[in-house]
Amino acid sequence: MDTLPQPTVTVPPALHRPRAVERLVAGQPTSDGAGVKLVRVLTHNLQRRLDPFLMLDAFGSDRAGDYIAGFPDHPHRGFETVTYMLEGRMRHRDSAGNEGLLTGGGVQWMTAGRGVIHSEMPEQEEGRMEGFQLWLNLPARDKMCAPWYRDIPTGEIPEARAPGVTVRVIAGQALGVAGAMQRDATAPTYLDLHLEPGAMFAQPLPAAHNAFVYVYRGALAIAGTEVPRQRMALLANTPGSDGVALQAGPKGACAILIAGQPLNEPIAQYGPFVMNTNDEIYQAVEDYRAGRLA
Ligand code: FE2
Repeated sequence: MDTLPQPTVTVPPALHRPRAVERLVAGQPTSDGAGVKLVRVLTHNLQRRLDPFLMLDAFGSDRAGDYIAGFPDHPHRGFETVTYMLEGRMRHRDSAGNEGLLTGGGVQWMTAGRGVIHSEMPEQEEGRMEGFQLWLNLPARDKMCAPWYRDIPTGEIPEARAPGVTVRVIAGQALGVAGAMQRDATAPTYLDLHLEPGAMFAQPLPAAHNAFVYVYRGALAIAGTEVPRQRMALLANTPGSDGVALQAGPKGACAILIAGQPLNEPIAQYGPFVMNTNDEIYQAVEDYRAGRLA
């Protein structure tokens, strides 16, 4: 969108007590949908630790066979899906009558709420398909809200600049620039960081927010820990810490930085349904079988 102001170059804030890396996570290669190959970076066993985030999948392949089958009709209830395409084209259709085409650099933010049935299908037969899907939980009070979604084309994602750094601000804020999306209960920060060789960046974060960085190009360092490509650095919630500082390696780096306010509510998950109790899960399955999610 050409109405966005030109980003000004802002020096990142100095942090007094940056977070350390608690551990590095490699993720698990798997397939989902009708056979899309992906790496599940944030797996089920990290849901408590990374509350309010439930899942992060990274997909990236030049081989059509790895993605062409897509994700045919399937339901969701009780949380939000955030799909960020780096490259490729994916068409979305849902039972609420929404339809959109997600292309390189764009985001689709969908609030499943009480229920939606949708498909996410590649609209290309060759070339590279790459991106991420993040699942963000909803607080108990919002789990049965009306479904909602927004396609955010690449030109509508605000960018912030620091020396050697471009930040695409998908949610939350960075360098004084407000992101494309804001959420009250979970206050998510979702940044796509592009760092030139050796460039440094710092992001203030409340110590209570759970946070991680996933490197998808090059490598970077966080508080003395090297984070190579295709690794997630889970950031420590050190009491009194004021954010995360990182520095790109000699070849530069691209990474997503994700953080959020934990909900501290029970998590009951059965596949694409994420509620607070098993009874609510049984209800979701029953509603889906009875056609009440459409
Ligand atoms: Fe889905």
